[in-house]
Amino acid sequence: MSTKRGNWNSKLGFILAASGSAIGLGNIVFFSSNAYQYGGGAFYLPYFIALFVLGLPIMMVEFGIGTLTGKSFPLALRELAGKRAEFVGWWSIGSAMFITAYYIAILGWAFGMMVGAFGSLFEPGISAPFTPFETPTDSPSAMVYFFNLLATWWPVLFIFVIWGLNLLILRKGASSIEKAVRIFVPLMWVFMIGLVIRGLTLDGGFDGVMYLFTPDFEGISDASVWRGAFSQMFFSLSLGLGTMTAYASYLPRDADQVNNSMLVSFLNCSFEFIAGIAIFSLLFVFTLNPAGSTLSLSFFVIPQGINELSTIPWITRLFGFLFFFLIVIAGITSSISLIEGPASAMMDKLKITRKKALTIVAIPCAIGSVLCTLPIIIDKGLAGNGTLGLSILDITDHWVFSYSLLIVGLVESLAIGWILGADKLRMALNQHSKWNLGKWFNTLIKFVIPIVLLTVILSSLWNERTGLYGANVDLGSFNWLPWFIPIFWLAVSLSFSFYLTNKPYKK
Ligand code: PHE
Repeated sequence: MSTKRGNWNSKLGFILAASGSAIGLGNIVFFSSNAYQYGGGAFYLPYFIALFVLGLPIMMVEFGIGTLTGKSFPLALRELAGKRAEFVGWWSIGSAMFITAYYIAILGWAFGMMVGAFGSLFEPGISAPFTPFETPTDSPSAMVYFFNLLATWWPVLFIFVIWGLNLLILRKGASSIEKAVRIFVPLMWVFMIGLVIRGLTLDGGFDGVMYLFTPDFEGISDASVWRGAFSQMFFSLSLGLGTMTAYASYLPRDADQVNNSMLVSFLNCSFEFIAGIAIFSLLFVFTLNPAGSTLSLSFFVIPQGINELSTIPWITRLFGFLFFFLIVIAGITSSISLIEGPASAMMDKLKITRKKALTIVAIPCAIGSVLCTLPIIIDKGLAGNGTLGLSILDITDHWVFSYSLLIVGLVESLAIGWILGADKLRMALNQHSKWNLGKWFNTLIKFVIPIVLLTVILSSLWNERTGLYGANVDLGSFNWLPWFIPIFWLAVSLSFSFYLTNKPYKK
């Protein structure tokens, strides 16, 4: 069975692929903006608690059920905890497809910024069709470049480039993924280390690091900081979307998953740490002030800083190019895993070929990516998101990101903790592990994690009471989007899981 599904050629291949999945936009773009939004030092304590209480144990569960069953997420859950657990597995796969769609849209914009480094990104005289940016600038402005990019059809083309690359890497499964991550993942580290050295050696760079690491005990009492840290940890470690189980299912059954989970989490969090230092040092050197949006820090604040790094134009251009190249490759090693989760689940259940499964996943998701990059301007004054695509992306992200990962985490810990029995998984993990997990593992899976996740989910829901997300912005004739998108996501993902769970399955 497992040979037919494909295998990693080496343990290193698996570690590179799983850490490549974990390290992505989450570590560079979202982490820095979260840490900034929640006040630098205030973010760290909740973040580390999230790593040990939630991230590591759930990664052990997701890796563990993959090697234990040799199957992708929904079927692994079915084998261990019954059909109802399978339903949640498919729901997570459905949500992963929504996330894939907009994740790749962001990569399309990053690609546009990368190309722009050798075009007009670092040149004066650019304008964008939004009220504040109509007159051409006197000096280079990454913000104006970005908004201008958003208002063109170029990103739609770039999306097809990114989708093409993804499908090329995925065409043979584990073996072709392994070939790509062997090049991309080390490269990503080299660039990030280069960036951090540059940031720290600039005058004032260290102040950013101080801001990031000085603990702020007042901020910690704010519930939203905890919510932010827990969701960030889940996303960053690629949990709750079936990804890690799919990757683990290509490992031999005697793989040491306790050790692998520690290694992958360590690699992910160290990368995030270094990325935080690099971005915050640049931020402080140029005393830049990022505005509200999540993308602003990486997409226009950092390039603005890079613009001032050197008076020699080609150095600026090269540096800008490398920064976005880094984001693109880090993103691609994650997006392939986002696509592999659904594709492998469908191959397992429907017994279809890889090519067919990839097609079934790619077509709707690529349509979604195109929707998220539609350049139609709906808010010229930029009070909201500007283009139709960005509004679709923002509202989808709000619902899918905030709820699906954590709900899946909640259900999987309950299913494994209570239906299969946490102790059974613990024994299975311990059998091949150098480190033995103690009884505390059972307590975490059965009680602590469900309680923590339920609290976070309920508090997020409670926060929704102040008004429907996105409804406070005037979207003109698209004012129906804020209620349509969450209903659409729920209806589609739930019927998708209903259909696939009830599809007859022959082993
Ligand atoms: N972990 C990835 C990142 O940080 C995103 C991701 C989430 C990938 C879930 C796969 C599954 O960007």
